[in-house]
Amino acid sequence: MRYDVIMPRVILAIESSCDESAVAVLRDGDVLAHQIASQIKWHKKFGGVMPELASRMHTEKLNILLGDVMAAAGIGFSDITHVAVTYGPGLEGALLTGLAVAKTLACQLKVPCIGVNHLQGHIYAAFSETVPPEFPFVTLLVSGGHTMLIHCKGHFDFEILGQSRDDACGEAFDKVARVIGLSYPGGPAIEKAAVDGNEQVFRFPRAMKGQLDFSFSGLKTAVKQAVEAVREERGDPGSESGMTADVAASFQAAVADTLIQKSLLALRQTGARQLVFSGGVAANAYLRDRLKSALEDGSRIKSGMTNFKLIVPNPSICTDNAVMIGLAAHYAIISERLTSVERLSVKPGLALTEGCVVV
Ligand code: KG4
Ligand code: ZN
Repeated sequence: MRYDVIMPRVILAIESSCDESAVAVLRDGDVLAHQIASQIKWHKKFGGVMPELASRMHTEKLNILLGDVMAAAGIGFSDITHVAVTYGPGLEGALLTGLAVAKTLACQLKVPCIGVNHLQGHIYAAFSETVPPEFPFVTLLVSGGHTMLIHCKGHFDFEILGQSRDDACGEAFDKVARVIGLSYPGGPAIEKAAVDGNEQVFRFPRAMKGQLDFSFSGLKTAVKQAVEAVREERGDPGSESGMTADVAASFQAAVADTLIQKSLLALRQTGARQLVFSGGVAANAYLRDRLKSALEDGSRIKSGMTNFKLIVPNPSICTDNAVMIGLAAHYAIISERLTSVERLSVKPGLALTEGCVVV
């Protein structure tokens, strides 16, 4: 079957790889409706994502979201031409819940079921912008599970330029938050605490300078040691709020410097002019601002350096959502990059370069 000739193309997309259940409906690449049900409230008390709980909550939430999103989109199930679903990477049980719903729907509606790579979804999140990126561009993908610089040469033609050798950037936010007594997820908590902090107080390491790979474990350890030293010196846990804000701000500044330096290096090495900043960590306003001024600073033109363009999806499309899954499926169809498979099953360890599949 030629999937590209169906018009209008109405894609129902489902995302359930971690702790957000999400459903979206797109018509020819435009979002008709989408919703995200976050499970953070339930995982918070465990200080991180509980895989078993995540699967159970997806099972409860997906059907409700499905009804709500279809009603908001103002279409009937018979209008759907494709179902798209994340098939990896992610938590196996959580992925299975979304896939089960997607396959059942596709089978009932007699439409193709498209498996989408969650990481590629984060890249395609940028195509939700009014002015989408133009190939070739570089994507800085920073989430709870991944930190990558990716050369995006064309649709579904991706090359990893650098990645984290240990903790992911979002994971470092989550772990550092725990060290300074902030709750899960650490990213938003650190961003909030940092507003009142002084980023000059602590000088944390900016690891692997001059290279495209990342390492965040040394930064995490440096924060831990600094906090222990202050606690020992003060001996008064009651006076911690100032320190928490300063640590949060200093940590965030170290992350920003690292992301900026490596992104500029990747842009120069590839000759690309645009950087897409995506993934949960890209929801951070401080990091967005720092990257924007570093890349788009007009004075660089005068000093002979190229001025780059930063593209950051809306914060709600940076963290996990189904719009990005629908967009990846949409572009896979129109660029004819769908691979037909006999069986669609979940792949928890799916690599970035494994593209969209269809049954
Ligand atoms: O992309 P995402 O929603 O899920 C994964 O695919 O991993 O990313 C979740 C990660 C978490 O580690 C969370 O702490 C981080 O993104 N995050 C943030 C912010 N919001 C979420 N990190 C920094 N600042 C934020 N505002
Ligand atoms: Zn994600």
